Amino acid sequence: MGKAIEKIYEEALAELETASDAEAVKVISVRYLGRKGYLTKFLRNISKIPPEERPQAGKRANELKSILAKKFAEASNRFEREAAEAIDRIDVSLPGRIIRQGSLHPITQTIRQICDIFSGLGFQIAEGPEVETDYYNFEALNIPKDHPARDMHDTFYVSDNIVLRTQTSPMQIRVMEKQAPPVRIIAPGKVYRRDSDLTHTPMFHQVEGLMVDENISFGDLKGILTTFIHRIFDEQTSVRFRPSFFPFTEPSAEVDILCVMCRGKGCRVCSQSGWLEILGSGMVHPAVFENVGYDPKRYSGFAFGMGIERIAMLQYGIDDIRKYFENDLRFLRQF
Ligand code: PHE
Repeated sequence: MGKAIEKIYEEALAELETASDAEAVKVISVRYLGRKGYLTKFLRNISKIPPEERPQAGKRANELKSILAKKFAEASNRFEREAAEAIDRIDVSLPGRIIRQGSLHPITQTIRQICDIFSGLGFQIAEGPEVETDYYNFEALNIPKDHPARDMHDTFYVSDNIVLRTQTSPMQIRVMEKQAPPVRIIAPGKVYRRDSDLTHTPMFHQVEGLMVDENISFGDLKGILTTFIHRIFDEQTSVRFRPSFFPFTEPSAEVDILCVMCRGKGCRVCSQSGWLEILGSGMVHPAVFENVGYDPKRYSGFAFGMGIERIAMLQYGIDDIRKYFENDLRFLRQF
């Protein structure tokens, strides 16, 4: 019987030899010293040994038990230490990790192109708040109280008098309140509308433009906008001014360009019309001048506003506006 315990011990040592990590040591330890382990069982069944051998066998078994426990602990510690060292060790033969370079978001790129073109035409860049008062977003722009744009369905209201701006046009008022003519600014930024589908997102970007001085005419509006369109697209892009209505301009015009996809033949993008609407514009309404203390008899000017995503979609031939906001790197890396 005394032999049996020695054999268990020998076997435990032999198995420990085969272990190659801390996990394996743990398994072996459980097999011998665990609640149902060989050594534990031996001690539990010690009453089956003849009484005269019992004290000796019990003593030896407990001795071997603590020796094994110590050896298992040592082995396990050694494996853990080695594993930790392996992680810290630098393998100088490994190829380096490629760090991809980030790039500007396509919308940012288009905003910068637009700003560059207008800077070249003598315009300054202005910026203002996205959380706007009812006065700047609507009232001062001659947008009457019952105008549909003021509906809760179209506008995000923060409170009765505060909105998320639905357009960059409030920047016209903010700029004119601060300075006397001549004014020549563009104002890029985010705007918000309760709208979401293939061509609308609840947040998008606009660029506002405003030019005021003595003797500014509709001809100036046409000249500046045509120059801009030829520079952002190309010289072959025909431009069409179509009568329209905005409460803060009179007369007003929407500007269409010859479809950049089909060059006027008619396709899905231009709904077979051959033309694409890209911006709203007009001569500043006298009521707007009065609201900022400009004399409408002395000064005249024009304003325009365009959706940047729309321009960027046409530049790159992208048919779903939501792609710009999904932040899918596979999409963004192409720009
Ligand atoms: N703010 C108008 C819109 O969002 C565009 C516009 C700007 C029209 C300036 C005329 C003059 O639709």
